[in-house]
Amino acid sequence: MCFGGCCERLLHERQRVEGGRGHTVSTHDMVVPLLGVPPATEAVARTAKHGVVVRRAQTYEREAVVRFVRQRWPDWADAVDCGFSYVPCRIIVALEAGTPVGFAAYDVDYLGLFGPTGVDADRQGRGIGAALLLRCLNAMRESGYLYAIIGAVGPAEFYSRVAGAMSLPSDWPSYTDPDLS
Ligand SMILES: CC(C)(COP(=O)(O)OP(=O)(O)OC[C@H]1O[C@@H](n2cnc3c(N)ncnc32)[C@H](O)[C@@H]1OP(=O)(O)O)[C@@H](O)C(=O)NCCC(=O)NCCS
Repeated sequence: MCFGGCCERLLHERQRVEGGRGHTVSTHDMVVPLLGVPPATEAVARTAKHGVVVRRAQTYEREAVVRFVRQRWPDWADAVDCGFSYVPCRIIVALEAGTPVGFAAYDVDYLGLFGPTGVDADRQGRGIGAALLLRCLNAMRESGYLYAIIGAVGPAEFYSRVAGAMSLPSDWPSYTDPDLS
């Protein structure tokens, strides 16, 4: 595969857009060295204090979690559904009074890929996204990966701040290029 510039069709400038809450977002892949990711314990304990449990989803939660995702991010529902087909399930969920308020997935589009992830708009900015990200990356580390790829981000600053993620060149091919799959 060519990463050096000979594949004309891959060298499009990825779009920069304005994200929610005044943050700038861009689309490119990021890499996370999993050996440097902190344990999720503190972040998970902090959300628990505020009534939000972050843990691996259970098979019986499939319908509720997929419905939660479909209502907010319809394009991601099939990938999340796919995460429930594995054992152990590749979905980490945030639950408030037993109801999903956030999720993170891994290994659902490609092996070693983190995402998608999302937190209900009314609950963003309370540390739930960080707890989901760290819990998920630690699950990936435990399953044997040394690096995780975060595909086609998104809020790069969030990933670098919480998990030390580093941006890959924006002209590298991404899994979102349909011709590559
Ligand atoms: C990205 C997302 C999951 C973050 O969840 P969250 O619960 O709001 O994040 P947290 O409250 O845990 O934030 C953790 C840190 O990241 C920062 N942060 C959160 N969202 C950010 C963003 N979009 N850009 C930059 N920094 C961000 C927070 O300020 C916080 O920093 P601090 O610890 O210094 O205070 C959430 O905004 C979301 O669901 N967005 C819509 C879906 C989406 O874009 N998913 C990612 C696709 S690649």
